[in-house]
Amino acid sequence: MDTTITSYIETNKKRFIDELFELLRIPSVSADPKYSKDVFRTAEVIKGKLVAAGAVKVEVCPTAGYPIVYGEKIIDAALPTVLVYGHYDVQPADPLELWDSGPFEPVIKNEKIYARGACDDKGQVYMHIKAFELMMQTKSLPCNVKFMIEGEEEVGSDNLGTFVKQNKEKLKADVILISDTGIIANDIPSITVGLRGLSYMEVEVQGPNRDLHSGLYGGAVANPINILCEMIAKMKDDKDHITIPGFYDDVEILTEAERSELAKAPFNLDEYKKALDLSDIHGETGYTTNERNSIRPTLDVNGIWGGYMGEGAKTVIASKAFAKISMRLVPHQNSDTITKLFKNYFESIAPKSVKVKVTPHHGGEPVVTPSNSTAYKAASMAMETTFGKKPIPVRSGGSIPIVAMFKSELGLDSVLMGFGLDSDAIHSPNEHYGVFNYLKGIETIPYFFKNYAALSK
Ligand code: BES
Ligand code: MN
Ligand code: MN
Repeated sequence: MDTTITSYIETNKKRFIDELFELLRIPSVSADPKYSKDVFRTAEVIKGKLVAAGAVKVEVCPTAGYPIVYGEKIIDAALPTVLVYGHYDVQPADPLELWDSGPFEPVIKNEKIYARGACDDKGQVYMHIKAFELMMQTKSLPCNVKFMIEGEEEVGSDNLGTFVKQNKEKLKADVILISDTGIIANDIPSITVGLRGLSYMEVEVQGPNRDLHSGLYGGAVANPINILCEMIAKMKDDKDHITIPGFYDDVEILTEAERSELAKAPFNLDEYKKALDLSDIHGETGYTTNERNSIRPTLDVNGIWGGYMGEGAKTVIASKAFAKISMRLVPHQNSDTITKLFKNYFESIAPKSVKVKVTPHHGGEPVVTPSNSTAYKAASMAMETTFGKKPIPVRSGGSIPIVAMFKSELGLDSVLMGFGLDSDAIHSPNEHYGVFNYLKGIETIPYFFKNYAALSK
């Protein structure tokens, strides 16, 4: 244990929390144009925080969408460089009525910070800025660091992709460090070594050219809502296997040895069910819960609408029905290929009585990161120091679209050293982040830098 680290955190923790609150008060919702000004303002605030912490060449780099905040501290070109990536945009806060306190009015309750973005990802980004401040103030920064904090992760990182392709020299580094994932539990540290990819589609089913009286026409014409439900139901069989032809063609099949390695991550089914108020779980036959949400692809309806949704009952056959459908992908599936397969299949199963439209949204590629690299070891040792336990490598079900591109465009591996918990309710009402996790992150990051510099010699 390094007492300079712990005492710096002890002395400054109140300020660390107050400063994070400033950031959390800005509703930087990238999906909703209504918040556009706030998203831009958040980039400026991040810039100010990086400058204050000691970064130089700090700039708010414009893109076709929201800007990317860049900053660096190069102490010696001969030393390794760590590129820290994170995002300052957040998911929409809806449904607002389910929040116990305002999503953009951060509060601490039961040692947890409640606000949209508290964990995903403002809280985790700010750990890096404060860990950097700590290393600067205690004159212990052991290698070079670059920061790249974007504002469009929650909408697919399209413009970041372009930025990465156009700024390869600027982004030159030895490894990418990201805190935008989680650990198994506060006493069971883990490091994420895999992320799923994503194909996200919007579908429209049109029946008659106008809404109809459901008595006069019911039974005689296609009801687009009924048809859409049937089509969605057709996309999975009774084993919860996805029926899109070719969907599994490129899916990586893990060896029994790999599966048993992953099965070492502790998991308690009863607690899992209890936390979600479920009497049973549900998923693809032949796989465990941890496998279903990490090494296996899925297809989920994220939203479905159409027809009469107001008060009381209206007898109507809607003209149109809609759904948003996402597919989580695993190595070595490709999001463009899956998007095409989905579109072809969806169109092929539509009866003649309706017209369908399929519009792809953003996508992202799956990724597996090495668990035997110098950087992984540096992270593992850092967590072992601060948690007192060696972290377990786990593959996560979530997606961070840019990570695969870091590898393909920059040739860089990422270390996914996140500190959130599945119970933090990211993307949900009452998102929160433990004060313990926030401070533990600030404590662990300097050890990562120290170990990485030492192991790279
Ligand atoms: N930080 C999450 C992803 C995540 C969370 C990965 C927890 C692993 C553990 C990220 O902000 C996110 O929500 N990504 C989106 C993808 C994006 C294209 C909207 C996702 O996974 O839905
Ligand atoms: Mn995130
Ligand atoms: Mn997110």
